[in-house]
Amino acid sequence: MRILITGGAGCLGSNLVETYLPQGHEILVIDNFATARREVLPDVPGLTVVCGTIADRDLVDGAFARFAPTHVIHSAAAYKDPANWREDAATNIDGTINVIDAARRAEVKRFVNFQTALCYGRPERIPIPVDHPTRPITSYGITKTAGEAYVAISELSWVSLRLANIAGPRLAIGPIPTFYQRLKAGQKCFCTDAVRDFLDMADFLDLMDKVLREGAPTGIFNVSTGIGHSIRDVLEAVTAHLGIEQTMPVPVVPVGADDIPAVVLDPVRTRSLLGWEAEVDFSETVRRMLCWYDAHGVSVTYSHLRPAPGARP
Ligand SMILES: NC(=O)c1ccc[n+]([C@@H]2O[C@H](COP(=O)([O-])OP(=O)(O)OC[C@H]3O[C@@H](n4cnc5c(N)ncnc54)[C@H](O)[C@@H]3O)[C@@H](O)[C@H]2O)c1
Repeated sequence: MRILITGGAGCLGSNLVETYLPQGHEILVIDNFATARREVLPDVPGLTVVCGTIADRDLVDGAFARFAPTHVIHSAAAYKDPANWREDAATNIDGTINVIDAARRAEVKRFVNFQTALCYGRPERIPIPVDHPTRPITSYGITKTAGEAYVAISELSWVSLRLANIAGPRLAIGPIPTFYQRLKAGQKCFCTDAVRDFLDMADFLDLMDKVLREGAPTGIFNVSTGIGHSIRDVLEAVTAHLGIEQTMPVPVVPVGADDIPAVVLDPVRTRSLLGWEAEVDFSETVRRMLCWYDAHGVSVTYSHLRPAPGARP
């Protein structure tokens, strides 16, 4: 395959590069390093890195024309400043349209889009079926959902994966790195009773093999274990891993206005159509992630949420 990966320096993108490059596939990454570092991508034959934004149509068209990809993995997304709607729209809507247009001209065999589970907004039921209405309530969710809608009318051979919280090397968003970083630094933590589903990187990469396969089904898929765990569960796991004894109960704050109390995706359609099922359970997923942080540390963390009330120590 000749795989063009937008956002290829990010957490998911760089794990995909590390998986597909040693298998002999040619890869081109487009990344503006908004939430990633250039150094994670090695200077090796078979990997080309284009530094710039997918909102720049000429840059995207030029990269596609030179590289002539057979497959596109669209992983770039803007989310780090919840107040910067224009940046979210420029990347997640305009940028997505640029990538779709270029992919159509290149006649790629397959276009894989990554979507946030926040597209469902406040769900009517848990676990959330893939045909649940989309009602996003944040700039990130709104713009990602618009981008996915353009993918769906693109007439490409497309797949959009609505992803649970994936934990793996270089994860810099969400409760696991945040708690690890704060507790390691001796800082106070608070938590919420919000529930999320966590998926191990190995299970995600296994699914990617299945969706990139020739003749694989197209459409929208929930990618999840289907089992929820609270943010409090995560805090307890990190605390136990670090061997910290909590002398005071950790404050539990209300879920923020832009947050969702429970997001657990129902993967039943994914299981039946793609023959995929998550194999790694929650405690092992968190354990692997924490061991990775033990070895590599947490340098920076991002959030697409405004700080919850009472969040500041
Ligand atoms: N990791 C998860 O658990 C998860 C869950 C749901 C959805 N997703 C989706 O998966 C994709 C990858 O997420 P991630 O966790 O790897 O995040 P990430 O922040 O690590 O990766 C996103 C990458 O996109 C790059 N980027 C941002 N704006 C860009 C632009 N305008 N042009 C080019 N590159 C740009 C960033 O620098 C970064 O490398 C995103 O589309 C995200 O919405 C991820």
